[in-house]
Amino acid sequence: MSEQESSGGFSADWLRLREPLDLVARSQTLALAFKAALKPRNGSALKLIDLAAGAGANFRALAPVLEGDQDWILVDHDPMLLTAQRAEISGWARRRGWHAREEDGLLQIDVGAARWQVRGQQLDLARDLDRVDLAWCDGLVTTAFLDLVSAAWLDSLCALLAKVPRPLLATLTVDGRRTWQPALAADGLITQAFLAHQVGDKGLGESLGGQAASYLAQQLAAQGCGVSTQESDWHIGAGHSELLMTMAREAAAVAAEVDPSNARTASAWLTERSSHADRGVLSLEVGHLDLLALPGPART
Ligand SMILES: C[S@@+](CC[C@H](N)C(=O)[O-])C[C@H]1O[C@@H](n2cnc3c(N)ncnc32)[C@H](O)[C@@H]1O
Repeated sequence: MSEQESSGGFSADWLRLREPLDLVARSQTLALAFKAALKPRNGSALKLIDLAAGAGANFRALAPVLEGDQDWILVDHDPMLLTAQRAEISGWARRRGWHAREEDGLLQIDVGAARWQVRGQQLDLARDLDRVDLAWCDGLVTTAFLDLVSAAWLDSLCALLAKVPRPLLATLTVDGRRTWQPALAADGLITQAFLAHQVGDKGLGESLGGQAASYLAQQLAAQGCGVSTQESDWHIGAGHSELLMTMAREAAAVAAEVDPSNARTASAWLTERSSHADRGVLSLEVGHLDLLALPGPART
């Protein structure tokens, strides 16, 4: 698992920790191209579905870019994150001086003349991807999710988009590049173990990990979509020592889990990383890809 989990799911704390890094890493060019491609179909508000929305970070990143009236459905299978969504989004809106209220699970945020409506939907995307109501929406988004899914799952997503063509913006998919600084001799072993672990089954089949975005780009291009990708890397500097040490501990634990004979090397590596963090010299680059796919002319 490339991310921090608790009790079988992703912890809201970890999603909160990563959100500011995601925000600066995202491709603004692709977000604006996605916005330009959206055509409201039913009524005037833009309708969007976010797959594996977690605590709602994708909504918080995209709603201010898209502007105007918007209706969102935030899909996730984790009931705790669906509950966290409402609190995180309300708090975020209020901190910006926007009026937010909730009724019957529908969150309404008034931003100047615009109204953003947000509803969570509990769905296991491993089993029920075909229950995502693409026909309802004008655009589909997902973030920090596709590296968890299998080639077969991505094929199903492509089949859905072939049947119901919609612009897709899939952001922050890890692509396997990880560089720790200062460099240590054991970095190769730690990173190789991490990448090997990343392609295990995360509940959605054998995940493609760092190959997911390029696989999806190929498949969507082959079915006639206009596909663009851009790097959206994390540059985690010494100022983020809590996050860096969370990731270093995770990397060391994964290395020992993948091969118990790595345990001693991983432990020594972690001690050095901790000392680098204490001295304020630790940093990490994590490669990601953002992907925008627009339906081909024959299908719009
Ligand atoms: C790395 S988190 C990203 C969350 C959110 N998109 C963000 O960027 O903060 C991955 C998300 O995938 C969700 N997820 C994992 N497996 C799922 C499944 N089978 N069905 C629906 N959601 C799933 C998790 O609950 C989690 O919210």
